[in-house]
Amino acid sequence: MGEKLVEVDNLRKYFQVKGRGGRKQYVQAVENVSLFINKGETLGLVGESGCGKTTLGRTIIRLYEPTSGRITYGGEVISDVENHISVNMLPYRRKMQIIFQDPSASLDPRMTVGEIIGEALDIHKLCASKQDRTDRIRELLDKVGLNTEHSNRFPHEFSGGQQQRIGIARALAVDPEFIVCDEPISALDVSIQSQVVNMLEDLQEELGLTYLFIAHDISVVRHISNRIGVMYLGCLVELSESYELCNNPIHPYTKTLMSAVPLPDPIKSRANKRILLEGDVPSPINPPSGCRFHTRCPYASERCRQEMPALKEYSPGHYAACHMLEG
Ligand SMILES: Nc1ncnc2c1ncn2[C@@H]1O[C@H](COP(=O)(O)OP(=O)(O)O)[C@@H](O)[C@H]1O
Ligand code: SF4
Ligand SMILES: [Mg+2]
Repeated sequence: MGEKLVEVDNLRKYFQVKGRGGRKQYVQAVENVSLFINKGETLGLVGESGCGKTTLGRTIIRLYEPTSGRITYGGEVISDVENHISVNMLPYRRKMQIIFQDPSASLDPRMTVGEIIGEALDIHKLCASKQDRTDRIRELLDKVGLNTEHSNRFPHEFSGGQQQRIGIARALAVDPEFIVCDEPISALDVSIQSQVVNMLEDLQEELGLTYLFIAHDISVVRHISNRIGVMYLGCLVELSESYELCNNPIHPYTKTLMSAVPLPDPIKSRANKRILLEGDVPSPINPPSGCRFHTRCPYASERCRQEMPALKEYSPGHYAACHMLEG
C-alpha cells in the first residue's frame, strides 16, 4: 500500500443537454474532483443517487471524456491520450475495467456467456488458440463460482446474482489491475448481496486488484473500504480512512449521512441523533453558487453562498471541503 495507481486532479464532467426551447444547458455532474487511489486498496465512494458517482467512475476509466482535469494511471497521464476509443487507449482499457450496477442491462441478451467473456479476450488478443480461449473461459467461470459447463447459455437463463458473476468474469477476463465496481450489489436480492461482496474481496486479495467501490449507502462500503469518499451534487466533500470517516465525520453533509446509519452499539446509537436535512437535492444543471450544499446546510454563512470551499487536509489523510472547518 502507499503506491498511487490512480490520480485524479480537478476533474470535471459536464453533459450537454437541451433545455427549454432547445437552449444548450450543461449538467455539471462532476465538479472539480481530486483524489488518488493506492495500489491494492478499496476506495469506497458514497452519496445520494444523482450526485455523480457513476459519472466520476466512468470518467476516470475514460468511458466518458473528461470536460477538464487530469487523470493519471500508474504514473502516466491518460486524460491526454487521444480519443477514448483509440488504439492508444487499448492498453489502459485492459488494465481498467468496470462492473455495472444492473447486470441484466449490461449483458447482451443475444450473446452466450462464452461469447460475452470471449469477446473481451478477442479484443485484446489474449488467447493463442481456440482451445486456449475455451480453457480460459472455463477458468473464469470457475473463478466466479459459476458452472463451467454453462458457457453456451444466454444471460436470461441465469439469476440476477449469477448475471452479476458473469459481469465480473467479463471484467476479469483481461487481467485488469483496477476495477470500478459501480453499485455491483444494489440490484441484487439482499440474501445474495454479501456473497457477491465476499467474492469481490476474495478476488481482490487473490489477484491484487484495486477497487473504486461505489455505493449509495455507506453501510455497504464501510467494512470493505480502506478509505471512503463522500460526494454531494458533483463535489467530493469529504475523504478519509474508513473507520475515521464513519466515527469522526467532519463535513456537515457526511454528519447527516452518518446519523442515518444504525450503529451496533445501542448507547452510541441513542446519542447519535438522526439529523434530517431540509429541502431536496438541487439540480446539477443550475447548481447553487459557492458551496453546493449551502441551500441545505444548517451552518451556511454568506461566504458559503459565494465561494466554493476547497478540499483541505484537516488531520493526516482526512480531507474535507467546508469553510466552517477553515475557521
Ligand atoms: N449521459 C448523461 N447525459 C446527461 N446527464 C447525465 C448523463 N449521465 C448522468 N447524467 C446526470 O448527471 C448527474 C449525475 O449522475 P450519476 O453520475 O449517474 O449519479 P449517481 O451515480 O451518483 O447516481 C445526474 O443529474 C444525472 O441525471
Ligand atoms: S462550506 Fe458552508 S454551506 Fe458548505 S458545508 Fe461548510 S458550512 Fe455548510
Ligand atoms: Mg450511479
